[in-house]
Amino acid sequence: TRAKIDPNVVQYTSEKQKLALQALIEEFTITPELFQAIKRNFMEGMLKGLKKDGETMAMVTSYVIGRLDGSETGSYLALDVGGTNLRVVSVHLTGGGEINTRQTKYRIDEHLKVGDAKSLFDFMAVCVDSFLDEHQIVVRGDSQIELGFTFSFPVLQTAINRGTLISWTKGFNAAGMVGKDPVAFLQDAFNRRHIPVRVAALVNDTVGTLLAHAYTHPNTIMGVILGTGCNGAYIEKVSNIEKWKGKTPADEMIINMEFGAFDKERQILPLTMFDNKLDRKSVNPNKQILEKMIAGMYLGEITRNVLLNLIDRRLLFEGHISPDLNHMWTFETAYMSTIEADNTPTLHATRKILESTLSFPQTTLNDRQIVKIVVELVGMRAARLSAAAIAAILDHTGAWKVKSDIGIDGSLFEYYPSFDTDIMDGLEEAFGPEARKNVSIGLAQDGSGVGAALCALLAAKHGTA
Ligand code: GLC
Repeated sequence: TRAKIDPNVVQYTSEKQKLALQALIEEFTITPELFQAIKRNFMEGMLKGLKKDGETMAMVTSYVIGRLDGSETGSYLALDVGGTNLRVVSVHLTGGGEINTRQTKYRIDEHLKVGDAKSLFDFMAVCVDSFLDEHQIVVRGDSQIELGFTFSFPVLQTAINRGTLISWTKGFNAAGMVGKDPVAFLQDAFNRRHIPVRVAALVNDTVGTLLAHAYTHPNTIMGVILGTGCNGAYIEKVSNIEKWKGKTPADEMIINMEFGAFDKERQILPLTMFDNKLDRKSVNPNKQILEKMIAGMYLGEITRNVLLNLIDRRLLFEGHISPDLNHMWTFETAYMSTIEADNTPTLHATRKILESTLSFPQTTLNDRQIVKIVVELVGMRAARLSAAAIAAILDHTGAWKVKSDIGIDGSLFEYYPSFDTDIMDGLEEAFGPEARKNVSIGLAQDGSGVGAALCALLAAKHGTA
């Protein structure tokens, strides 16, 4: 358990400054009552989404059925698109729970994210092609390599390898894609270039993470992404999915919740003026409200908004601004990780970020203490909101009462100090000490790539492709 955020560590320069900080603490704190209310609201949102399509939380039926036990074998490709980088992975399952992977990352240029869809998918095909070259993967005769496509956006799936894009998220906005099938676009890009690859499965990164974690932790019931974006997937009983009209040979299916969209109605989340400012300037205003309070793409920007406000009121840096901080997205979430971890008496690492990276000519200890508290407030709120979401899923499924594993992937979870302990504290708050004994959360590194390969394998096994 981490120490409570302590406003008394600051040697305030004025009463006004102290009052401003107290007000911020109040605004950003998720009290135990609010935590419970958010969790309740979230559970209601889950039920709505299971009932019919078009609800705030999409609760997408993934068409992924069947569990894995680590005995599976085969070689697959995976293409992972949806964060800062695009990754191509070759996955070799040797049975006995062992997985060998080789991967290459490619940076997706900003102009491709908001250009036309064809260029974006052509770029994906070119990356796969150069990966095959680089790793000398040769395909003989007419055969094709099976590929699992992790496309981490809200997609209404109509089969294990078909679906339509509901909307873009996370700064992507390529024209002409909403309502279209990403698999058709990708397959077409492969075919035009005579690249011998068949898209066998379309997977969300949360679903991939769940599958990959399950390969080594059979009690896995949930996959979560806390990275550029945030979302979760869990195993649901088919009998609980009221909107499901299809036939399944199984009684369980993985649901991709798309929980980043939670509270579009703005009924429960304690949005501040800093959140509203970020939302208004984003490429998808009014959408993905919870994601904008939790995910790595946004936390730095919220922090920047708070700092600017304090500067404008002459309560920080004596009212001086650095030209760097004036521009959107310049305060990276990675800086927050460093500042959170900075326990030196002079806040040395914090100073380095402010003075060397962000070119503030000079900062006082008081400045740095205030910056650190703001960072902690934004980070803590994100962790507690994640915990409320996870607790809601555990309550809905009852999984907190039995031994359960949760696989989490994403840069925020991996690098942000004490995100994991903050989440466990939240679960204890929701269910008491039993939750701590039963539920384990673990890093499912590269889960989405391996998971996509496992999904291609399941598709072949169950013939749902
Ligand atoms: C966004 C996407 C979702 C994805 C999540 C994490 O919320 O809409 O599909 O799972 O980001 O990458």
